[in-house]
Amino acid sequence: MMLLKTICLPKNPSIVLLFSFLLLASCGGDSSDDLVEKTEDPTENPNETAAYTYTSHVKSIMTNNCVSCHSSTPINGASSSLVTYEDVKNYGTSIINRITRNEGEAGFMPKGGTKLPQNLIDQIIQWKEDEYPQ
Ligand code: HEC
Repeated sequence: MMLLKTICLPKNPSIVLLFSFLLLASCGGDSSDDLVEKTEDPTENPNETAAYTYTSHVKSIMTNNCVSCHSSTPINGASSSLVTYEDVKNYGTSIINRITRNEGEAGFMPKGGTKLPQNLIDQIIQWKEDEYPQ
């Protein structure tokens, strides 16, 4: 018991003070860095945290696979335009429904084409889950 007491309660209190100071100093530095990082991002670009945006990802998928029929005046029997951000956002749920069907199944999109690569389908699903960042 004597031995334990000697270890746990150092006789020189200035050592305790020194360690407390070092601990406080390093913690203070870290937390102020964290604060700066957290507040910078959202003000610079609100979409920066979103994995996929319309402009950087979804638009080109539509242009390359869908707009041949879903043009601003839809052709080949299509009735919706998928040209603008508003168009694609408004049809978001329907688009995901169509592109996740199996090739050859009724209503499959792109009509008469091949199924989009899974990574592109996943990007559109994530884009919807993130509430359609522009
Ligand atoms: C070859 C022409 C063609 C292409 C390419 C095409 N579609 Fe379509 N799409 C159609 C036709 C015709 C219809 C209407 C028949 C139906 O509903 O299946 C349609 C219907 C739709 C609808 C239901 C709303 C509407 O306009 O009637 C959605 C949503 C849709 N397509 C999404 C897409 C997406 C997303 C792509 C690209 C991945 C795509 N389509 C590519 C021809 C096309």
